[in-house]
Amino acid sequence: MYITGLLVLMLMLFDGIECVAFYTEKPSYIESCRIYEPEFTNCSTRSIQGFMNQVIKGIPEIDETFGPIDPMKQDQLVFNQDNSDVASISANLTEMLIRGFGKMVIKESKVSKKDFSWLTKIYLPTMRLDCKYKMIGRILLVPLRGGGDMSMEIDDLNILMITRTHLYEKGGYTFYNVTSVRVKLEVGKVKTHMDNLFNGRSKEVEQGTNQFFNENWRDLFEALRPLVAETVERTLLKLLQQLFNLIPANFFVEDIPNSLNLYGRKTQLIA
Ligand SMILES: *[C@@H]1O[C@H](CO)[C@@H](O)[C@H](O)[C@H]1NC(C)=O
Ligand SMILES: *[C@@H]1O[C@H](CO)[C@@H](O)[C@H](O)[C@H]1NC(C)=O
Ligand SMILES: *[C@@H]1O[C@H](CO)[C@@H](O)[C@H](O)[C@H]1NC(C)=O
Repeated sequence: MYITGLLVLMLMLFDGIECVAFYTEKPSYIESCRIYEPEFTNCSTRSIQGFMNQVIKGIPEIDETFGPIDPMKQDQLVFNQDNSDVASISANLTEMLIRGFGKMVIKESKVSKKDFSWLTKIYLPTMRLDCKYKMIGRILLVPLRGGGDMSMEIDDLNILMITRTHLYEKGGYTFYNVTSVRVKLEVGKVKTHMDNLFNGRSKEVEQGTNQFFNENWRDLFEALRPLVAETVERTLLKLLQQLFNLIPANFFVEDIPNSLNLYGRKTQLIA
């Protein structure tokens, strides 16, 4: 069943029928590169930037399952951190809205010839996170117990993204299974606001604390870094998994090895 390059493959599984849809024709907005040729990283960087530009404009299958990229809605994040000098936080973030990925710049996109993991350098002029928060804990020695609206604006955000993948075959194509995303963040400047920090007990103390946090934004960001990193990691993992289940890896890396050749036939057949 071919619908303008989108193949709907019905897979009979032990427990029933699963519908997996994916592209069988390379869309014109994807530039193919060859990993065993020099200048691959230049080509890949250009290719991923062009692809992301299209993702930002909208790809119907992604709009349907993931939603728009900017602003991007995210589910809740439950976060616990207690072993740090600067912070001990239990936080629940809900109704998350992330702005800024619409302006992402791919500075470098490297792919490992060994295991086809990726090393990607991404720059966002600004990333803004708005959410509802509930938090108990201590940040920069300030004990907090509150919940309400929270916003955080990061200027000049450099993301180093480390992505693990596992190749697999589907309908005669090789695909990336994106299995994990880790990020390292470098920030220019961070502005944060949390209302109702002390369950509304004192507006003055709340204002004073927000001011204190912003005057010490570097320390505040260090305290919140794991929480921000986890938010970015979860967002990118979900997006990349959906994108690369939809579009064969062959369209990006023309000469990517078949997973059976890469990992060896034996392990594949047993798996
Ligand atoms: C490829 O990228 C490198 C490093 O970014 C750069 O120095 C070089 O000029 C680029 N080559 C081409 C042909 O674009
Ligand atoms: C966050 O939610 C979890 C369960 O979803 C709950 O156990 C925890 O107490 C909540 N934390 C805060 C700070 O509200
Ligand atoms: C992708 O990897 C996950 C584990 O990270 C696994 O559960 C899933 O079955 C894999 N999917 C495919 C199609 O290989």
